[in-house]
Amino acid sequence: MIYKKLDSFSKDFLWGSASAAYQVEGAWNQGGKGPSIWDVYTKIPGTTFKDTNGDVAVDHYNRYKEDVALMKEMGLKAYRFSIAWTRIYKDGRGEVNEEGLKFYEDLIDELISNDITPIITIYHWDLPQALQDLYGGWESREIIEDFNNYCITLYKRFGNKVKHWVSLNEQNVFIGLGYLTALHPPGVKDHKRMLNANHIANLANAKAIESFRKYVSNGMIGPSFAFGPVYAYSCDPKDILSAENAEDLNCNWWLDVYCKGSYPSFALKYYEDLGIAPTIEDGDIELLEKGKPDFIGINYYQTSTVRFNSLDGVGISTGMNNTGKKGTTKESGIPGVYKNVANPNLETTNWDWAIDPTGLRIGLRRLTSRYGLPILITENGLGEFDKLENDDIVNDDYRIDYLKSHIRACKEAITDGVELMGYCTWSFTDLLSWLNGYQKRYGFVYINREENDEKDLRRIKKKSFYWYKEVIGTNGDNI
Ligand code: BG6
Repeated sequence: MIYKKLDSFSKDFLWGSASAAYQVEGAWNQGGKGPSIWDVYTKIPGTTFKDTNGDVAVDHYNRYKEDVALMKEMGLKAYRFSIAWTRIYKDGRGEVNEEGLKFYEDLIDELISNDITPIITIYHWDLPQALQDLYGGWESREIIEDFNNYCITLYKRFGNKVKHWVSLNEQNVFIGLGYLTALHPPGVKDHKRMLNANHIANLANAKAIESFRKYVSNGMIGPSFAFGPVYAYSCDPKDILSAENAEDLNCNWWLDVYCKGSYPSFALKYYEDLGIAPTIEDGDIELLEKGKPDFIGINYYQTSTVRFNSLDGVGISTGMNNTGKKGTTKESGIPGVYKNVANPNLETTNWDWAIDPTGLRIGLRRLTSRYGLPILITENGLGEFDKLENDDIVNDDYRIDYLKSHIRACKEAITDGVELMGYCTWSFTDLLSWLNGYQKRYGFVYINREENDEKDLRRIKKKSFYWYKEVIGTNGDNI
């Protein structure tokens, strides 16, 4: 639909920005914190861009007051951040670390006293290494109880102050890259193990949501899903069918479980026929049904375009572009199912990510039609090289263009009838990109550091900082 006039954003719309503990905090061994799988993995040479790690990151742990003051100056309405499990339980279980709880309590209080709504992400990939060593992390059902205990500790401590919670961040990414392409810890390449670990993560997510209802009154919780709506390359029915396959295997496989408590049937049958379907035990489906979310969190960066792939066609590839050299992403697919191709209608970033604001609107509508739940955009943003010019100026007009077009798509989706709670950009300050180092920048605030040179970690407001301030100030009316 093309509208002559668009609906407005609601008065309480959450104009936010997001981050994750490992990517911003640093202080990896301060305050009684134990090691996470990322603390260990990034120390293995060759696993990340130029061997970068989050030991110092952007030192948010020690500079959070300065960062919150900048958020206040911008007029930010919501800040989504994650809690490092290893700050709360050094080994993932056992004795609780009061110093860790206190750090997050201080951050929450600082946000609230500056009129910024805190949104807590409980798990953004930094699993305690001790649990990986003890029972293989997400591959053991023991994690369901440990994760639930960790969640309950957070609910009890922060549940009266924080009402917006994200359970697991991008389960599809940390499980897919951790167990299928071996690009994330624990570096496994095994489809059957991946699907089993994923099922266990589903159960842990459901259990955490079930507990949330007991401990947090008037709160809302949901997972954040890395959502890449799928397009068919052409109207050739073979391409259309490939797109259906990809949507089922890459989106519905997770979203149906979260929102309906069951796996999509074609995908499940496909995995059963291959002998790699997850082991579903008695009681699992009942638990999944009890763990339905209040909203769907989506991290949206791009759509994917697929076409027919023959049985001897291209397979799964680990050739991601982690350098910012345009055009270096390798072809990948699943033989007999689909293959990913570039969309000739879309521009891409230097990391080969398709820029597609209309895809966001399409995705929001698909989710609304299929699940009928409110949606919170928990991440959206542009990772690019930024140039620090004389007098501390960063002219990131490309980021403004990107964000503006995506916010416009949100407004159109709201006019379509999508119930959108808020929009969090990725990210507030620049931060560590897991596999891409510090040169792939996303923030409104430039951090003066490079891959292996921490410099002075100075905070510098980019042009986009002032622009987003105005968006928030007009409640998106200027879009
Ligand atoms: C999401 C993650 O996948 O996208 C973030 O939740 C991540 O943690 C962001 O940083 C951008 O991805 P990348 O690979 O460019 O850092």
